[in-house]
Amino acid sequence: MDAESFREAMSRLGTAVHIATTDGPGGRCGTTVSAVTSVSDAPPTVLVCVNRRARINALIKANGLFAINTLPADAEELSNAFAGKGDLPLDDRFAMADWTKLTTGAPALAGARVTVDCRVTEISEIGTHSVIFGEIVDIALGERGPALIYLDRAYHRI
Ligand SMILES: Cc1cc2nc3c(=O)[nH]c(=O)nc-3n(C[C@H](O)[C@H](O)[C@H](O)COP(=O)(O)O)c2cc1C
Repeated sequence: MDAESFREAMSRLGTAVHIATTDGPGGRCGTTVSAVTSVSDAPPTVLVCVNRRARINALIKANGLFAINTLPADAEELSNAFAGKGDLPLDDRFAMADWTKLTTGAPALAGARVTVDCRVTEISEIGTHSVIFGEIVDIALGERGPALIYLDRAYHRI
């Protein structure tokens, strides 16, 4: 199976859009991700798949922690900025929104539908990506409301 067919197949799967963040001795970083999955509720665990060439990959590994900030429907511009569109410096990307911190110290987006704050427990290297498992140590529940969904290579609001 070639990579193009794989990408076309995956474009048919609608997904929530998140900004994965980290901070610590390795430095602060954030990146738009859709490859986030709930794994287990005991211990509460999620996984995120991060390209090995993305800056945040080495920083999550160095800091041993990350947060997943699930975006509300009106955060398309923020999603694009953290996906590298416009090539803004990282500080300018973070300046586009308000951030707090939960237990780990990873940036938590004010206004996120939910933020799950995680410590890294396991990492599997699969092809181009690192599959990073995190145990959830804190949660910030945001308002209920429309969410941003990525489907057919475009944003949708549901
Ligand atoms: C909607 C959307 C979803 C994305 N999902 C992922 C993902 O799950 N994993 C990933 O590694 N990159 C994902 N990307 C790409 C990264 O956001 C982008 O390549 C990254 O910010 C570039 O890293 P850099 O800052 O090191 O240049 C996604 C981009 C978009 C627009």
